[in-house]
Amino acid sequence: MKIILADDDKVSLELLERQLTLWGYTVATACDGQQAWHLLQVEPVSVVVSDWLMPEMDGLTLCRKIRETGFKHYIYIILISGQDTRQDIVEGLEAGADDFITKPINLAEFRARLQIAARVVNLEAALNQRYKEIESSYYQTLQMFTQLMESFDETLGGHCLRVSRLARQLATRHPAVDEEAYDLVETAGLLHDIGMVGLSPELLAKRRTEMCGDEQQQFLSHPVRSELLLKNIDQLKPVAKIVRAHHEQHNGRGFPDNLAGADIPMTAQLVSAASIYDNLRHRGKVDFAQIPDHLQRLCGYQLSPELIDLLLAFNMDLMKAEQARTDTPLSLAALDEGMILADDVRMKTGAIVMAADTQLNHHHIDKLKGYLALGNINDQVIVYKETRSS
Ligand SMILES: [Fe+2]
Repeated sequence: MKIILADDDKVSLELLERQLTLWGYTVATACDGQQAWHLLQVEPVSVVVSDWLMPEMDGLTLCRKIRETGFKHYIYIILISGQDTRQDIVEGLEAGADDFITKPINLAEFRARLQIAARVVNLEAALNQRYKEIESSYYQTLQMFTQLMESFDETLGGHCLRVSRLARQLATRHPAVDEEAYDLVETAGLLHDIGMVGLSPELLAKRRTEMCGDEQQQFLSHPVRSELLLKNIDQLKPVAKIVRAHHEQHNGRGFPDNLAGADIPMTAQLVSAASIYDNLRHRGKVDFAQIPDHLQRLCGYQLSPELIDLLLAFNMDLMKAEQARTDTPLSLAALDEGMILADDVRMKTGAIVMAADTQLNHHHIDKLKGYLALGNINDQVIVYKETRSS
């Protein structure tokens, strides 16, 4: 557990630092609140032990600043005070302190109070770990659901899985997209076409120009159907908004709301760009060298110039990776973590098991081996020779 110790009294600071180190804590020292505040910006710290009266920034102001800022992790604050009147205690607690210790410091009491801090810090860490596990299993459940949907519908095969991955990659390359939006974009990519479920395979196989009146109507309403399905789940409400807008176009001639330019949420533009690229590659069977011509035709019409540039750069990376693709399929026994699938892995029935561009981890390899043991897939997988970083 890392502690910042702030005190303007050098002797007291050195004594407490030595004592905390002896008790096994990692300590950074500050001679006033301002210095402690700077230290907090440099690296995450779990506990701040601060003197109340200090020059530059006092302990009470430091408390308020910490609470107003809202760090990613909770910071437990112990204030050291020369007085312990009820008024002082109330003022300190209201400023955001968790605990008090009064001067002269009793070491046994100080140690016991730090143990309380450690319990709170450890509880928060355990809670965060649990939250990550729940979030991860939630996403895996969505993935499983999508795979199940795709195993019933060959036309959508792999599209949603590939779009989710590509949309995330585009988000990470877009300078105006915050890191917090990456998971949202990936989930929206996974579920954007959920409203297609139930449409006939014949309709799904047609181009829009080949659809008759009623078929057109059914197709045009799929983003709204996707939204209706998802918005009943509280956690998926932001995703529902994105999927509704995944067929809007930069020139305002998309559907269902005829949004244009910056009125289309950036997250939806990313899903749209990924979906268009995936359809060109996997449905239109356009090879990498021809993709730039197709994309340029969509510039300013379906997609903004900046998204076209992102797709062109991505396509260039894939083209380079394609040149490093293995010529001969590998046996599953030869697969290693980090390898990237160059082709979809499909069941003998044609249903997709794992989409191209999946970077393999041990769960993926175990899953493929499980399918092989059941006799559902062949013992042949094509991977890229080199791994990519994103
Ligand atoms: Fe769609």
